[in-house]
Amino acid sequence: MKLCVALDLPSEQENIILAKTLKECDIWFKVGLRSFIRDGKNIVEKLKNINGDFKIFLDLKLYDIPNTMADAAESIAKLNVEMFNVHASSGRTAMKAVMERLKPLKNPPLVLSVTALTSFDDQNFRLVYGEHIEKKALQFARDTYECALDGVVCSVYESLAIKNATNKEFLTLTPGIRPFGNEQKDDQKRISDLKTAYENKCDFIVVGRPIYLANKPLDIVKKIMDEIPK
Ligand code: C5P
Repeated sequence: MKLCVALDLPSEQENIILAKTLKECDIWFKVGLRSFIRDGKNIVEKLKNINGDFKIFLDLKLYDIPNTMADAAESIAKLNVEMFNVHASSGRTAMKAVMERLKPLKNPPLVLSVTALTSFDDQNFRLVYGEHIEKKALQFARDTYECALDGVVCSVYESLAIKNATNKEFLTLTPGIRPFGNEQKDDQKRISDLKTAYENKCDFIVVGRPIYLANKPLDIVKKIMDEIPK
């Protein structure tokens, strides 16, 4: 199980300071829409300059027509990031177009899909997608697998069901982690600790506030790394 630290601080400078603090750690960083729009693609290079072994997950959640998604995927692959994501609801044709476009590349980034945004409750999800959220999320995961993507973003509590419905090698990346179970929930509804994430076979855990709001983020990261079963 790998740790992915969400770079959600309000300025580029604060994100860079955090990355420098965590320089010695074997971790991933999640660069989201806010940081990418504000700081541009140079943020990737800046992070790699701090530690060339840092891995970057570009969380842009692509959703567009197939050709535009494939074009965007090709451009992302040139940014030297290790992983990015698309919306599964962009459809099978779009997901296949993305994977086809990446196929000829030497070291293409991993591609995940977002099944259901966790901000949806069942009622609002139905209004958009016309179906029960859990059933549809599982269907999106199957679609994603059949389109040869590498995995999905999901809740810890969906990880096992998704692996059972696809393949155990199919990656799950799970936010909403409060590593030791005693942290603030913030706005997360269904949180999980490290142990539960491990038991549910999550491949990546995303942790933001419990790390970047801590007085000593490095101590928290070290503690997480120590507690992740090897
Ligand atoms: O601070 P916290 O650990 O709650 O941050 C979680 C990160 O994962 C944030 O960047 C949030 O936007 C992201 N995320 C999430 N739930 C999803 C998808 C992404 O919390 N379903």
